[in-house]
Amino acid sequence: MLNSASIRVWSIGGGKGGIGKSILTLGLGLVLSRLGRQVILIDGDLGGANLHTLLGVRYPAVTLEDFLQGKLKRLEDAVIPTAYEGLGLICGADDILGSANPTHSQKIKLLQEIADLPADFVLLDLGAGTSFNILDLFNYSPGKIALCTAQTTSLQSSYGFIKAALYRKLSLEFAKQEELFRLLAQIDRQDAAASFTSLAQLLEKIRDFAPEIYFRIKRILDDFQLFLVVNMVRAEGEERSPEIIRTVCSEYLRLRPQILGTLDYDPVVEQAVNRTAPQLLLHGKSQAAAGLLQMAKRLLVLGRLSGRDYALKTRENVEERGLPPLVLLPGQTPS
Ligand SMILES: Nc1ncnc2c1ncn2[C@@H]1O[C@H](COP(=O)(O)OP(=O)(O)OP(=O)(O)O)[C@@H](O)[C@H]1O
Ligand SMILES: [Mg+2]
Repeated sequence: MLNSASIRVWSIGGGKGGIGKSILTLGLGLVLSRLGRQVILIDGDLGGANLHTLLGVRYPAVTLEDFLQGKLKRLEDAVIPTAYEGLGLICGADDILGSANPTHSQKIKLLQEIADLPADFVLLDLGAGTSFNILDLFNYSPGKIALCTAQTTSLQSSYGFIKAALYRKLSLEFAKQEELFRLLAQIDRQDAAASFTSLAQLLEKIRDFAPEIYFRIKRILDDFQLFLVVNMVRAEGEERSPEIIRTVCSEYLRLRPQILGTLDYDPVVEQAVNRTAPQLLLHGKSQAAAGLLQMAKRLLVLGRLSGRDYALKTRENVEERGLPPLVLLPGQTPS
């Protein structure tokens, strides 16, 4: 169940590498900024940052690393402009040893500052894998997008990523409840000696004798606002593959993810990457543009529930006037 707060900060994860997390982050950012929103992209891939490369920034003047090292007072100071109006970027810390592992206090400060960034939307591009840093960034974001492709291995990784994130959240929340912590760890490890094999089963059991904990877990599950996106769809029917993730999430984790949208496999994406011309993603007739537009519209709806966003709505009422045409900004002709 969705709670009624607006979602402004989104992270894009999915476990597996090369499935299009950065492309989706970039594409959504471009569309939302074209729709008049102020957007900040954060390259949260602390080990292999490349969002700046996709945007044609060769040597970023400041990066997340400067903030993490205390060289910048505010995270806001790490935002660099891009060639696109309304789209700012916080570059990841590429190739800098140690950057992939911020300390706990650095991470807390980072998470607080993300919430304070002056933007209508903040989109966090996460790296591959399920390290605690990645999971914490994902869990921190009110809006969570888990990306996958239709390949079985990708669906598995994506589910594994969601599960790892949820268990990380529960483990932190119940770190002091030793018995529960032990049971959660057993289920997470798929321990053969575990008394329960799934969170759903555990919940059933504790409902009667530990109702307070039951409701605390239930609230965490209800607040876990998860959205699924399938990328590189090549054949009819593949767009329905996230249904498999939905089913297992519901059966084993008691989560109810929604499907945010689909991105078809589209050669325009490769062109956008190879030519460092991200605006090609918005090419009017491309499949990619259509998919991105649809998802961005949902993000607008999910993000505009607060008073602040209503003010934006009156400035440019996308719903009533229809979406503005996707045109290139001046000076942004593809090379
Ligand atoms: N919809 C698509 N159609 C065609 N090609 C795509 C599509 N999405 C992604 N690609 C291709 O896949 C490549 C990898 O995408 P991307 O860099 O976004 O993956 P990633 O998940 O961020 O990887 P990593 O985990 O390594 O950061 C892109 O460079 C592009 O060539
Ligand atoms: Mg990436």
